[in-house]
Amino acid sequence: MDLTWDIILCICIAILVHILIFIFVMGKRPKSIVGRHVVVTGGSKGIGLSLAVECAMKGANVTVIARDEKMLSGAVALMELIRQRPEQRFQYRSLDIGGDYVEVARVLSEVEESLGDIYMLINCAGFAICGVFESVSVADTHKLMNVNFFGSYNCTRYVLPKMKKAGEGIIVITSSQAAMFGIYGYGPYAASKYALRAMAETIAMESREQGVSVTLALPCDTNTPGFEEEEKSKPRETKIISGSGGLMQPEQMAKAILKDALKGNFISTLGAESWLITLLGGALMPWDGFFTNLLHAIVIGPLRLFSYGLHKHFNSVIRKCAVEDRAAQTNETSAKHSPDQAKLGDTLAEHK
Ligand SMILES: *[C@@H]1O[C@H](CO)[C@@H](O)[C@H](O)[C@H]1NC(C)=O
Ligand SMILES: *[C@@H]1O[C@H](CO)[C@@H](O)[C@H](O)[C@H]1NC(C)=O
Ligand SMILES: *[C@@H]1O[C@H](CO)[C@@H](O)[C@H](O)[C@H]1NC(C)=O
Repeated sequence: MDLTWDIILCICIAILVHILIFIFVMGKRPKSIVGRHVVVTGGSKGIGLSLAVECAMKGANVTVIARDEKMLSGAVALMELIRQRPEQRFQYRSLDIGGDYVEVARVLSEVEESLGDIYMLINCAGFAICGVFESVSVADTHKLMNVNFFGSYNCTRYVLPKMKKAGEGIIVITSSQAAMFGIYGYGPYAASKYALRAMAETIAMESREQGVSVTLALPCDTNTPGFEEEEKSKPRETKIISGSGGLMQPEQMAKAILKDALKGNFISTLGAESWLITLLGGALMPWDGFFTNLLHAIVIGPLRLFSYGLHKHFNSVIRKCAVEDRAAQTNETSAKHSPDQAKLGDTLAEHK
């Protein structure tokens, strides 16, 4: 009896060791971007800027695209500072990628004339507006779809056929953890990020045979200027729900994204929480080799209970906020009905 258990234990340990060796030692070899032309949209700040800098450090010729010329020239100056080789070249173009396709195509063909065919396109331009569904204006929703989805769509549309023809190329599409499940206060924003996820899944499947690799980046909350802006429009519920995940630094995020993209991994996440959410929310997405998927298969069942608990928690947060709101409303109306009492309350508060 004891012997049987020993044997089973040995087999289990052997399997585990093999899995670990496979995951950590026999990883894929990263591609080189030395002397290659990399285009980064949204490359003037945040994760985009960090990605441009990382590419420059890896010896690439980099074009950054965004709207603000001042920030763009700052990004180029930064890359000049950390250049690895004297022949490396950096440039910027000011462009509203949420604009017309013809304009996007014109600018991209122009940057190709000066630095050669685009080998890697990093779609990083995007922004967030939060708020419960009806509080986000129709115009803002169109803007979200235009910049976040159509911006990446139009740039990808330009490079993909050329990359397929060349038989090589890397495309990074920056979506979000908000594309894994719907979260209170993220309606139209999450819709634009879901659209990107769907696009990435499709084109990854369509261009693998032609030698083009696609990476879907799924960052969580990151400490960027965009995030600061986003915080202002966030409902209380959203802050409580998504605030528990903590903040990543853009440099960390950029390093992880570039590493995955150069290795040809489809999914790029950073941190245990994002890994968990992506595993649960994207169980049909391609993710690494057999042993990684075996590991996923073992943990995914029990984790389903985790997602049940998570939603229980979210609902309790939302209920608590709703109860507080109702109480505040009742106070307001009662204060209106008895102004004297309210005044008395104010004076009392002042004296405290
Ligand atoms: C890109 O950079 C490499 C060196 O890193 C250089 O040899 C090459 O000429 C550059 N390509 C273009 C088109 O400027
Ligand atoms: C993106 O490309 C489409 C198709 O060419 C074009 O109609 C559109 O104006 C472009 N821009 C946006 C923001 O949709
Ligand atoms: C409502 O008013 C009472 C006192 O009149 C106060 O104790 C309570 O905190 C108020 N509630 C809210 C939600 O402002």
